[in-house]
Amino acid sequence: MSKKLFIETLGCQMNTRDTEHIIAELSVHGNYTPTLNSSEADLIIINTCSVREKPVAKLFSELGQFNKIKKDGAKIGVCGCTASHLGGEIIKRAPYVDFVVGARNVSKISYAVENKGTIEIDINNDETSYEFSEYRSSNFKANINISLGCDKQCTFCIVPATRGDEISIPPEIILNEVRKSVNSGMKEIFLLGQNVNNYGKHFSNKESDKWTFTKLLQEISKVEGVERIRFTSPHPLHMDDEFIEEFTSNPKICKLIHVPLQSGSTKILKDMKRGYTKEWFLNRCEKIKSKIPNVRISTDIIVAFPGETEKDFLDTLDVVEQVKFDQIFNFKYSPRPNTPAATMEQIESEIGTRRLQTLIDLHKTHQDEHMKKNIGTVHKVYFEDLKPNGEIMGFSDNGLQVFVKGSEELLGKIINVEITHNSRTSLKGIIIE
Ligand code: 5AD
Ligand code: SF4
Repeated sequence: MSKKLFIETLGCQMNTRDTEHIIAELSVHGNYTPTLNSSEADLIIINTCSVREKPVAKLFSELGQFNKIKKDGAKIGVCGCTASHLGGEIIKRAPYVDFVVGARNVSKISYAVENKGTIEIDINNDETSYEFSEYRSSNFKANINISLGCDKQCTFCIVPATRGDEISIPPEIILNEVRKSVNSGMKEIFLLGQNVNNYGKHFSNKESDKWTFTKLLQEISKVEGVERIRFTSPHPLHMDDEFIEEFTSNPKICKLIHVPLQSGSTKILKDMKRGYTKEWFLNRCEKIKSKIPNVRISTDIIVAFPGETEKDFLDTLDVVEQVKFDQIFNFKYSPRPNTPAATMEQIESEIGTRRLQTLIDLHKTHQDEHMKKNIGTVHKVYFEDLKPNGEIMGFSDNGLQVFVKGSEELLGKIINVEITHNSRTSLKGIIIE
């Protein structure tokens, strides 16, 4: 009889894909099927994030809760970035945890489940050619990893310590996954990596040289059946003209791009070791916007990084005012263990809270401005989710969430929709085909 697996996924898209790999491995090698009910599970896994302090603090209280409600004999495991970061410490603090598997060790999951006390957290483990079993959480879009780890050393970031150095996945493995995905009916490919546009710099097999992210995009778009390509995250430093040209001219590449700013102050960017200036960032966004009128740009911003003065913060607001981002993921700086910024001079917490609010308020005015402009326009929408209220939801080419009245037969189709209503975060419309 099959056993039940409950898995909670925190953090980024990379974790979402790791969760798919975990489910796949355990279904093939352990006869587990996923459940949404933790109290009926034979195995409970938390796939953790450690990029900021809060989710780490939450981990131990959640583990305590799961230990209380779990069924007799059920196992508990911790995976992901906090697993890499805390390792055996987790079992010391929560001795009922059965195993710990780091973000770079997903291929060890079946072994860990069968061997109580396993701690697999080697960040140099090379999984670039490991053939994971197949499981996808969506029938419409395929998450595909193109690289593992990160070779930047941004001074605020714990990721290089939890996911290890950057290694690119061989192109033939990626292209094979793309082909398999479209053959099973998916139209959208979502490429994942910590720095996708640094693709091709490090392969474990040296023969695969001379691949760039631009070339990978070109090869993927040649695969018959691929209709949409998305990716996250590119790094502003590697947004060269060749990449921007491909992004703007390739009709299969969706016109929503994440360009993580972090700070608008060149001085703070230097202290963060981001490798670009305020002017470079503005120039890249301007170039993209001038070539694609309906492009949408999202970003990540950290406020109150150590040493951030009022003037530095005004530089961030200035970039926000000039680019008018469509979406901002705002964070208050959170010191992470063993990162250089954690030992720099810290900013008072209330200053960070105030700056965060100022940024949120400014961004809301831009969102309202952008969203209103969609009324009366026509978007190609890829429908993927039927709602209980008779609406069906999909995404436009430039990443807008669109709802229309409709039924099941629209699922998996890309259809023209004329927009009739907007809120700050989504649109409603009518089908015009
Ligand atoms: N504090 C706050 N935000 C952080 N991020 C990464 N590290 C930290 C930190 N120590 C944010 C960055 C990154 C996003 C994924 O998380 O903005 O782009
Ligand atoms: Fe962290 Fe910087 Fe790497 Fe992004 S690029 S994962 S912020 S070190």
